[in-house]
Amino acid sequence: MTAPAPIEVRGLCKSYGELVAVDDVDLTVEAGDVFGYLGPNGAGKTTSLRMMLGLIVPSAGSVRLFGRDPQVSVKALAGVAGFVEAPSFYPYLNGRTNLDLFAALDGGDARERIVEALEIVGLSHRAKDKVGTYSHGMRQRLGIAASLLRRPRLLLLDEPATGLDPGGMRDMRDLIRNLSGQGMTVLLSSHLLTEVEELCNRVAIVREGRVAYQGSLAELRRQAGSGYLLRTTDDERARQVAEAQAGIGEVQIRAESGLTFSAESESAVGALSLALAESGTLALELSPRHATLEDLFFRLTEGEEAGAAPRPDRALEGAT
Ligand SMILES: Nc1ncnc2c1ncn2[C@@H]1O[C@H](COP(=O)(O)OP(=O)(O)OP(=O)(O)O)[C@@H](O)[C@H]1O
Ligand SMILES: [Mg+2]
Repeated sequence: MTAPAPIEVRGLCKSYGELVAVDDVDLTVEAGDVFGYLGPNGAGKTTSLRMMLGLIVPSAGSVRLFGRDPQVSVKALAGVAGFVEAPSFYPYLNGRTNLDLFAALDGGDARERIVEALEIVGLSHRAKDKVGTYSHGMRQRLGIAASLLRRPRLLLLDEPATGLDPGGMRDMRDLIRNLSGQGMTVLLSSHLLTEVEELCNRVAIVREGRVAYQGSLAELRRQAGSGYLLRTTDDERARQVAEAQAGIGEVQIRAESGLTFSAESESAVGALSLALAESGTLALELSPRHATLEDLFFRLTEGEEAGAAPRPDRALEGAT
C-alpha cells in the first residue's frame, strides 16, 4: 500500500455569507514537494491554509493530512507545523523564551530542539533579544523555528517571504530549500511567482477561490508557449516578409521596437532569416522569447479580461 499523500484536499469550499472565499479546491501535495500556492490578494490562500491546519471548518469538502482529517482529530496534526498570516510571539520576551513557551505546548523533546532550530533559521545570535526588537524577516524566521520544534514532516507557510527585502527573500528561499533537502514536504503561499519559481517544483494558481492551474512549473512554462523576438533595420518590411513566410505566424509589431512571431519549427526561423537577408532587411536581434511566469500568472488571474491573448486558462484545462 502506498503511503497517503501529505496533503489531499478535495472539493474544499469556504463561504462567508454570500462571499465564496474558497471554491471547490482539489489539491494534492506529494511527499518531498515544495508546493507553491499562488494567487493575488483575496484569492483565498490564507483561508485554504486555515482549513488545512484545522483552524476553521470548511463549508464543504475535505482535507487529509497524511490520510487524516484535521477537523476530526488533532492527531492529524502530528508531524505538521506552520503558521498563517504572521506568527505571533510575546514581544517583551526574547526569542529563546518564546520558543520555550512553544516547546512547553508541544511537549515531548521539543525543548531539546530549540538550540538547533535557532541555528537552522540563523537566529542564535539574537536569541536573547526581545522579539519586539526583531525585524519582520527575523520574526518570520522565528516562526519557522517554532514550527521546527515539532519535527514536522509537513510545513505549511502562509506568505513566508512577503514583506522581506531581496536579501531576506533569498535567505528564506535558502532556508526552505534546506528544510526540503532534509526531507520535509513544504506548502507555501505567495502572491509573487518570481519569489517561488526557483524554489517550488509544483504550483497551484488560485483566482477568486478557484484553482486555475495545478501542476509542475516546467509544464506551466511549456504551455505558456514560446515565441521569437526580431529587431531589424526595417521592421515594417520585416513584418511583410515574416507574414509571407511558411511556418511563421502571429506576427506583431511591438510598440517599443522590433516584432514578435511564433514559429512551427526552428528551420522556419532559419528560413525567415534568409528571406529577410534576401529582401535587404538585416536582423539586428533574433531571439527566442519565453512568456515569463509573471505574464502567465497575470493572464491566469485576470481571467475573462485576458482579451485576445492566448487563453492559458483554457489551454491548461487538460493539464490539471
Ligand atoms: N473571517 C472572514 N469573514 C469574512 N470574509 C473573509 C474572512 N476571511 C476571509 N474572508 C474573505 O475571503 C476572501 C479570501 O481571503 P484570504 O485571506 O483567504 O485571501 P488571501 O489569498 O490570503 O489574500 P492575501 O494575499 O491578501 O493574504 C477575501 O475576500 C476575504 O475578504
Ligand atoms: Mg493571506
